[in-house]
Amino acid sequence: MSFPHHRPRRLRTTPAMRRLTAEHRLAPADLILPAFIREGLSDPNPIASMPGVVQHTTDTLKRAAAEAVELGVGGIMLFGIPETRDAEGTASLDPDGVLNKAIRDVRAEVGDSLVVMSDVCLDEFTDHGHCGVLDSDGYVDNDATLEIYAKMAVAQADAGAHVLGPSGMMDGQIGVIRQALEDAGHVNTAVVAYAAKYASAFYGPFREAVDSQLKGDRRTYQMDAANRREAIQEVGLDLAEGADMVMVKPAMSYLDVLADVARMSPVPVAAYQISGEYAMIEAAAANGWIDRRAAITESVLGIRRAGANMVLTYWASEIAGWLKES
Ligand code: PBG
Repeated sequence: MSFPHHRPRRLRTTPAMRRLTAEHRLAPADLILPAFIREGLSDPNPIASMPGVVQHTTDTLKRAAAEAVELGVGGIMLFGIPETRDAEGTASLDPDGVLNKAIRDVRAEVGDSLVVMSDVCLDEFTDHGHCGVLDSDGYVDNDATLEIYAKMAVAQADAGAHVLGPSGMMDGQIGVIRQALEDAGHVNTAVVAYAAKYASAFYGPFREAVDSQLKGDRRTYQMDAANRREAIQEVGLDLAEGADMVMVKPAMSYLDVLADVARMSPVPVAAYQISGEYAMIEAAAANGWIDRRAAITESVLGIRRAGANMVLTYWASEIAGWLKES
């Protein structure tokens, strides 16, 4: 070998050397825990396709939030499963509805010590399971849906959410929600835009988690897996409409998109390691096919390395616990 004898392995010789030269590391503060609460439950309900994840009762949700605070987790993203559903998702606007009440309960528990985020979307509240209301042809009506999102956003801000997460992929949703928040005086309620959200087969377990009523798919509003460039357009629109943070979702099948967005975004970038990504790793680990902890760590580190500032992951509290002990 010729001078000057480059040997990259020198920096891999000891754990301390590898730790010192690591370009990225995980921190609890960069993790966001997605959590489900179901109305009318007396005990937490396990989600079969997401081993270790439950539909919470009010009590267990508050406990999970308190534990996240204890562990230094950055945030919690709340999803509600109502007892009654209708075509317009009316229960989403009820100040005492499952999600709005959960926001209030969690804020009462954690105050400002954890960033409390909530899902602004109709799919959990509609009896047809779509993220918006339907027109007479069964097509998801963009602008009629925006009117409901605006009211939902204000209801969630009233309940005390620090950050709203519109996940329905309606055109113009960020602008309409931002305007509604301003009009209601919620100038400091932030919005994380699910800017590049793809129609993904990996949402499967989430549909079980929220007892989704969906028949068919969301391909007329969520993005096509074939498209990369389009993500830049989606992010650009959301930024122009006032997004405070942007998200790429799912994470692992879209790391190229995440890297693109991370390069161009002037605001923090989140990535959502979704239910199917969780389920795959849990299933392989349960079979003894992979080392569970190593695979989880590597998967989240990969998402951070691709450019995510923060990662939504169902393992947020568990990973934070590991980081604390190490
Ligand atoms: C829609 C929503 C979905 C997820 C988060 N918000 C489901 C969908 O778009 O079908 C999926 C999250 C996951 O799979 O973990 N409100």
